[in-house]
Amino acid sequence: MKKYYLTTPLYYVNYKPHIGHAYTTLAADVLARYLKSQGKKVFFQTGTDEHGGNIEKTAAANNVSPQKWADDVALEFKEMWKTLGIEYDYFIRTTDEKHKAQVQAIFERMLEQGDIYLGNYAGLYCSSCENFLDESELIEGKCPVHKKEPEKINEESYFFKLSKYEKPLLEHYKSHPGFLSPDYRANEIIRFVERGLNDISVSRTKVSWGIPVKSNPKHTIYVWIDALTNYITGPGFELGKDNESFNEIWPADLHLMGKEIYRFHAVIWPAMLMALGLPLPKKVYAHGWWTVEGEKMSKSRGNVIDPRDLVSEYGLDPFRYFIFREVPFGQDGDFSAEAFKRRYNGELANDLGNLFSRTVNMINKYLDSSMPDKPENSQLFNQLLESKKDIEKDMEELQFSSALDRIWKNISLLNREVDLKKPWELAKTDKEALKKFLNEMVWCLRLVSSWISPFMPSTAARMLMHLSVSRQPEEPKKIEPLFPRKQ
Ligand code: ME8
Ligand code: MG
Repeated sequence: MKKYYLTTPLYYVNYKPHIGHAYTTLAADVLARYLKSQGKKVFFQTGTDEHGGNIEKTAAANNVSPQKWADDVALEFKEMWKTLGIEYDYFIRTTDEKHKAQVQAIFERMLEQGDIYLGNYAGLYCSSCENFLDESELIEGKCPVHKKEPEKINEESYFFKLSKYEKPLLEHYKSHPGFLSPDYRANEIIRFVERGLNDISVSRTKVSWGIPVKSNPKHTIYVWIDALTNYITGPGFELGKDNESFNEIWPADLHLMGKEIYRFHAVIWPAMLMALGLPLPKKVYAHGWWTVEGEKMSKSRGNVIDPRDLVSEYGLDPFRYFIFREVPFGQDGDFSAEAFKRRYNGELANDLGNLFSRTVNMINKYLDSSMPDKPENSQLFNQLLESKKDIEKDMEELQFSSALDRIWKNISLLNREVDLKKPWELAKTDKEALKKFLNEMVWCLRLVSSWISPFMPSTAARMLMHLSVSRQPEEPKKIEPLFPRKQ
């Protein structure tokens, strides 16, 4: 069975991991957990992008070799992913020997084919982007991302014949409507390609921290060609081999990334794959950007959010919940500490937490310690089941906030039902009706637990543990709240 292959970008190691990196990687984790719960086999890859002039400079400024610097930061990323409960299958680093060898081989193959040729680059270069810029991309003469004037450069460089792939790309976009996602990102890419593609520079002679071109080692391979190929080298692609296990994974089902690197993934990467004669990924999906209290995150502003701070204050699951509930996946969003706390106290402590503790306390008190049968004609349970299809559709379409909205509508429904049925009164007047109601609640909450599980795996597991009803006799009657209220 082919595995569902999903990826995050490879993050640069010139900065420690922050909420932005966590966002993409958590989205991949949420989707991977969901797909696994649906019985799919999944291969989830993330990693680090470690070559280039910026990293060389950062390492030098810290008096360490670039390799040592990269080793340390790659480890920080791995630790962060562990803290955030991310279960990736493979972590690739662009300094891995296997990766480097394949990048060199791929470069030589493209050179032989004429997809890469030696030329001269005269133009504009933004050293922060590590990217050659086109005059038309500049805003008031400056790099649109870094707001600084690009350098004028004139040097020998290898070029990738991107222009050759203009028509095939446009044809692919047309015949594969889900390829460019979300669909509101498609137009910009299509218009960009329609305006005509220029060949792109793919090597540098001035950056030593990079993979050398095998046949001409005074050139190092420019970061994007090195980085994008990770998506095939990670699952084991080897040029000229039969690639049996690779073919169980490739093509990727989903490349996830932020919108600022969408063009690389939607234009250059598929063109490279066409040059290699490999099938294209099914979907390239760009999400939006997080700002913090209305401002762009930056080192100089000192407003970079470290997820570890939120996790230590609120716990991991509330963090995982918040970032997907707050902003529709795909769009830009703003992080505010106040919004976090409001959702925590309202939706988690109150809506879910209270519902859970008041119900489980009654279950513990009034139900036998055996699992009740799944109710057959429970109106309540059936009502919940009605949203199952929509929740699943949302998950498959990465509409996480919408899925959570639907789940929380059901939680509200359950809260209303408890208020209406008043089980604490039934306890005095009608034990049979009470049991029947609590039986239904066990199954409704189990359903809720399965729905929240990709977002909040340990909360879901805790809920299930209390709802499996065959309790240990020594278990305390009063349960700990799922989400203690914060002042
Ligand atoms: O671009 N909001 O690496 P990078 C949302 N190495 N997502 C954010 C974010 C924010 N404020 N900040 C970062 C690179 N991200 C290249 C990629 S891929 C073959 C090579 C996330 O360290 C988002 O996924 O700059 C974005 O695309 C990525 O981090 C950029 O990471
Ligand atoms: Mg970046």
